[in-house]
Amino acid sequence: MRISKLFCTFAPDLERMTKTETYQSILSQIESLVTGETDIIANMANVAAVLHEVFGFWWTGFYRVERTHELVLGPFQGPIACTRIPFGKGVCGTAWQRAETVIVPNVHEFAGHIACSSASNSEIVVPILRDGQVIAVLDIDSTEYNAFDTVDKEYLEQIAKVL
Ligand code: SME
Repeated sequence: MRISKLFCTFAPDLERMTKTETYQSILSQIESLVTGETDIIANMANVAAVLHEVFGFWWTGFYRVERTHELVLGPFQGPIACTRIPFGKGVCGTAWQRAETVIVPNVHEFAGHIACSSASNSEIVVPILRDGQVIAVLDIDSTEYNAFDTVDKEYLEQIAKVL
């Protein structure tokens, strides 16, 4: 796991932490970041920045549900990405359709995967719910295969609830 030197100037213990400890540490920081700010775009932007900076993912960002039939690109960190994803399509559209987190250890083996970048090899997509409805998804890509597990799922779902 790459831990940013920049972020470590704010949280100097991060370099020695396990993934679980790192998530626990940033969860309280994310809660502080979003508390008092009601604009979800602003909050998504900061959450994408924290996750991307701390873990060194390839792509970290959000797609928002627009008019119930497609996802539209939201705040993100990383290379340019496709702007719209239909319901049920790709990993993002699948997580939206199922209203549950989807972990893809090898994106090349996921039928219908939408390749925004050839450098991405694994992916996790976490739905964000309001009143039982998916309003957005958090999408994270890694250049490593099998980069995401149940620890990522558990903590990213907690982050999704904080938003
Ligand atoms: N791979 C995603 C598309 C979004 S990019 O990864 C940023 C998908 O299959 O839905």
